[in-house]
Amino acid sequence: MTTCRICDKNFEPFISFGDMPIANGFLAEKDFSDEYFFGLATGFCEHCNMVQLIDQPAREMMFHDEYAFFSSLSSGMRNHFAEFAEKLQAEFLISDDPFAVEIGSNDGIMLKNIAQAGIRHLGVEPSANVAQVASDNGVNTISSFFDEALAAQIIADYGHADTITSANVICHIPYLHSVFAGIETLLKPTGVFIYEDPYLGDIVEKVSYDQIYDEHVFFFSVMSVSKLAAMHNMEVFDVEHLSTHGGSMRYYIAKKGSHPISENVARQLQKEQQLGLDQANTYDELRKRIEKSRTDLVAILEKIKAETGKPVVAYGATSKSTTVTNYCGIGPDLIDYICDTTPLKQGKFSPGSHIPVKPYEDFLADYPDYTLLFAWNHSKEIMAKEEGYNKHGGKWIVYVPEVKIT
Ligand code: SAH
Ligand code: TYD
Repeated sequence: MTTCRICDKNFEPFISFGDMPIANGFLAEKDFSDEYFFGLATGFCEHCNMVQLIDQPAREMMFHDEYAFFSSLSSGMRNHFAEFAEKLQAEFLISDDPFAVEIGSNDGIMLKNIAQAGIRHLGVEPSANVAQVASDNGVNTISSFFDEALAAQIIADYGHADTITSANVICHIPYLHSVFAGIETLLKPTGVFIYEDPYLGDIVEKVSYDQIYDEHVFFFSVMSVSKLAAMHNMEVFDVEHLSTHGGSMRYYIAKKGSHPISENVARQLQKEQQLGLDQANTYDELRKRIEKSRTDLVAILEKIKAETGKPVVAYGATSKSTTVTNYCGIGPDLIDYICDTTPLKQGKFSPGSHIPVKPYEDFLADYPDYTLLFAWNHSKEIMAKEEGYNKHGGKWIVYVPEVKIT
C-alpha cells in the first residue's frame, strides 16, 4: 500500500519495473560498483486519478551540478519554446511592467526569448551547471528548488508574477502541494500558471512506458490536474495538446473565477473518460501491453544478432532509454553503443545497462545496418537530419507505438 501524494488515500502499484538506476546517471566504468538502484513501480489512485511513482530517489541525487540534460540541444525544442515565448508576450505579458517566472528553466531555452524582449523575468533552476549556461546567456536565474518558501522569497525580491510557466518539470516534483500553494500566492490576481508535461493519455495510447523513470513522479491528465488545482483555489481554464516529448498536455491554470473556461477543458475531460483514464482496469491492460512491448523488442534485437551478427547502434542516450534497457535486460551484448550529441554523456556508459555512449560522429562514420531509436520523441527532427543514413539503406528499430523495423 502506498499513500497518494495528492489526496492521502491508499493505492497499489499496477506495474513494477524492477531495480532501476538514476535515469540521467551516465557513469564512468570506475563507478559501476557504487551505482545506486531503487525499485521503479507505478500506481493509480482511484480517488483523485493521479498516476504516480511508488518511490522516488531524493531530489539531490537527480538534480545537481552535473545534470546531463541540456534543453537547447534540440532544434525542435528551441523552436517550440520560441513560439511559446511569443504567445506569452502576445496574450499574458501585457501589463505595464510584466514579470515572468519559469520553474525549471534549464539552460534558458524559453526564457532567453523573454530576456531578449527586455521583459522582467526570473528562472528557477536547481541544477547549477545548466543554470550557469542560462545566466551566461543573459537569463536572470537563481539555482534553487521551487516550493512555497521560495515563492515567498520571490515575492519579497521581485513582486507578484503575471506568468509562471514550467515545461517538463512539474511532473518531477513530489511535493506538489507546496508548489501549487507557492504558485497561488506568487501569481497576481489575474496571473496565469501555464505548464506542460508528457500526457498520460499519450502514454496509455502509445504504450510509451519509457516516460516512467525516476524523475517523472507524476503522469498528469486533465482530470487529475483539475482536482489538484481545485485544492489550491485555482482552476484549469484551457488545455492544449502538444506533439512534444511524444505527446504532451499544456495546462492553463489561474485563480478560480479569474478567467473564462474554454470548451477545450470539457472536451478533453470527455476524451479522458472514453480512454478510461479514471478506471483501474485501464492500467492493468497497460501493464499487459508494456510486457508485450518488452517481449517483442528483445525478440527483434536477439534475432538480428543471431541472424546477422551485425552491430546495432542506439540513437539518443535519453533518460527514457534507461527504463527500456534495464526493464528489458538490453545490454552491450545487444546494443554496441549509443550515439549522442551531449558532450557530458559521451565517453560514459548508460545507467544500469552499461552500454558505451559515443559521439554522434561515430554513428556518421559507421552507418550501422540497424539503429534503435531511443530519441523517438524527436523522430521528425532526426529523420530530416538522417536522410543520408536512410538513403544508405540504414534501418530503424522503433518501439513506440509498436515494435517494428522501418
Ligand atoms: N524546462 C526544460 C527543462 C526540463 S528538465 C525543458 O522543457 O526542456 C527538468 C528540469 O527541472 C531540470 O533542469 C531540473 O533541474 C529542474 N527541476 C527539478 N526539480 C525542480 C524544482 N523543484 N524546482 C525547479 N526546477 C526543478
Ligand atoms: P530527450 O528525449 O529530449 O529527453 P529525455 O532525456 O527526457 O528522455 O533526450 C534527447 C537525447 O537525445 C539527448 O541526450 C540528446 C540526444 N539527441 C541526439 O543525440 N541527436 C538528436 O538529433 C536529438 C534530437 C537528440
